[in-house]
Amino acid sequence: MVSKVKTVRTIQALRTALKGAAGVGLVPTMGNLHEGHMALVNASVQRCATTVVSIFVNPLQFGPGEDFDNYPRTLCADTAKLESAGVDFIFAPPEREVFSPAEEAVKVTLPSLSRLLCGRSRPGHFDGVATVVAKLFNIVGADYAFFGEKDWQQLTLIRSMVRNLNIPTTIVGVPTERSADGLALSSRNLYLSDAERAVAPALYQTLCSIRNAIRDGDRRYRVLERHGRQTLDGAGFEVDYVSVRDAHTLRNPGTGTERLRILAAARLGRARLIDNIDAGAP
Ligand code: PAJ
Repeated sequence: MVSKVKTVRTIQALRTALKGAAGVGLVPTMGNLHEGHMALVNASVQRCATTVVSIFVNPLQFGPGEDFDNYPRTLCADTAKLESAGVDFIFAPPEREVFSPAEEAVKVTLPSLSRLLCGRSRPGHFDGVATVVAKLFNIVGADYAFFGEKDWQQLTLIRSMVRNLNIPTTIVGVPTERSADGLALSSRNLYLSDAERAVAPALYQTLCSIRNAIRDGDRRYRVLERHGRQTLDGAGFEVDYVSVRDAHTLRNPGTGTERLRILAAARLGRARLIDNIDAGAP
C-alpha cells in the first residue's frame, strides 16, 4: 500500500517534518508533472529514505512577456502522481513564504554560465533559477537533489553553484525522457499545434545527425552547427542556437575538453524548445 503524501506550505512545517530524517532527496519542480519529472522522482524514491518534491512556479526566472501567468498549475493531478510514486512530502509554498517582502532581495549570480546559450536570449533567467534553488537547498537541507539533463545548462549551473557556495547537497543528473519520436518531454510542448508537434522531433534528429558526424570523425564543429541551423530553419523553426560545447564548462571545445555536448534552442510557434545530447570525447 502507498502511504499518503503530505503537502506542506511553510518552511517551518517542512523543517519540523524533516527533523532527524536521514537520506533526504529533493526534486525541485514547477509542477505540471510529466514522465520527465517522474523519472527524477523515481530516482529519488529509489535512492533516498525520504523524498521531498517542491512545486513552485518561480517568478524570478520568467522574463517580461514570458508565460509566468499562463504557466500550467495542476496541483491536484500532480499530487495524485506523486502519491502513487511513493513521495513523502510536497513542498508547495506561497510566494511570500519564499520571498519575504521585509528583506532586501539577495540574488545568486553565476556571471559567465548564466549569460551564454539560453542566457543570451533570457537575461536574468538563470539568476532566478540559481537564487530559488539556493533557497530550496537551504530550506530543505537535502542530502541529494535531482535535476534533469534535459536542462543541461541549468544542471551545469547548479553543480557549479553547489561547489562554489559549499552547499552540502549531492547533485544527481537524470537522463532526458523522450516521446517515442524523440521529442524531449516538456511542459511547454502543450503550446504546440498538431502540425507543429509533428515537426518538433526534427530538433532531436538534428542533434543526432551532428553527433553521428562527430562520431564519424568530423571535427568541423562550426560547419556542423551551421548545417543544423539550416535544417531547422527549413523545417519552420526560429533557431536561437545550435552549438557544440565542452560538456562541463559550456565553452567552445578546447584543449582541455574531455566531453562534448550538443545543445540547441529554437522557437516553434508559441513554444521555445530546448534539447541537448552527449557527443562523446572530442
Ligand atoms: P521544471 O521545468 O518543472 O523542471 C523540473 C525538473 O524536471 C528539472 O530538473 C528538469 O530538468 C526536469 N525535466 C523536465 N523535463 C524533463 C525530461 N523530459 N526528462 C528529464 N528531466 C526533465 O527546471 C525547473 O522546473 C526550474 O527551473 C526549477 C529547477 C524547479 C527551479 O525553479
